[in-house]
Amino acid sequence: MPHLAVNELRARYGALDVLKGVSFSIEKGQVVALVGPSGSGKSTVLRTLVGLTPATGGNVMINDDRIDFASTASLRRARDQIAIVFQQYNLFQNMRIIDNVTVAPTKIKKRPKAEVRADAERLLAMVGLADKLQAFPDQLSGGQQQRVAIARALALHPEILLLDEVTSALDPELVNEVLDSIRQLAEDGMTMVLVSHEMAFVREIADQVVFMDGGVVVEHGPPAQLFDNPKTDRARNFFGKILRH
Ligand SMILES: Nc1ncnc2c1ncn2[C@@H]1O[C@H](COP(=O)(O)OP(=O)(O)OP(=O)(O)O)[C@@H](O)[C@H]1O
Ligand SMILES: [Mg+2]
Repeated sequence: MPHLAVNELRARYGALDVLKGVSFSIEKGQVVALVGPSGSGKSTVLRTLVGLTPATGGNVMINDDRIDFASTASLRRARDQIAIVFQQYNLFQNMRIIDNVTVAPTKIKKRPKAEVRADAERLLAMVGLADKLQAFPDQLSGGQQQRVAIARALALHPEILLLDEVTSALDPELVNEVLDSIRQLAEDGMTMVLVSHEMAFVREIADQVVFMDGGVVVEHGPPAQLFDNPKTDRARNFFGKILRH
């Protein structure tokens, strides 16, 4: 049984049909990379999975639990199991790093403070920020802040982590430290769906690449197959262009 199965997912913004039946699945501990041209619907897929954008059709299975997008209770279960990190990390500027990471688990999930605190310290150490617990966000670099955002998502104990272009707002020299944290998570067996333009990284880390265009999945497969030997003209065209850069 896949950890996450997305079946014929549909979404629209007003009159604009954005997802026209997107299907893919991911096994526990695997990494799926969603790639494709700007506007193809990658972010919308991730947003729909956590209920930020309403789905207008299809369904999602998390293990054997069917997520019904029309049901608030069912969406809440999805949100309990899936966490998302965005390109714009949006830390609380008036809170110390440690508090940014502990606030949701204590205030929303009502977990015991001491346990959450120990967990947050462990996660911040994992992303290389053990010495920044008491700092404020504006005292950190962009890459460090993005790693706080990853620790903050992990503090919710998700089963599945969604990462939407988490390195694309960063200066090139800060990208690697964030990729290191993601690499660590993959080694630890976290199931992840990531949207990334870092094709070398995708090739290294992804078990499956899902190539989207125009709100549908055009082709999917292991990175080597999609990058080196795509079956469709659209994928060949896309990867031909970006892999030359
Ligand atoms: N809030 C919104 N309101 C209206 N249209 C939207 C909204 N968000 C996205 N869209 C449209 O939906 C389509 C898919 O957008 P989406 O953000 O999912 O693309 P993407 O593949 O993530 O692109 P990018 O690589 O540029 O991030 C685009 O045509 C976009 O203009
Ligand atoms: Mg996007």
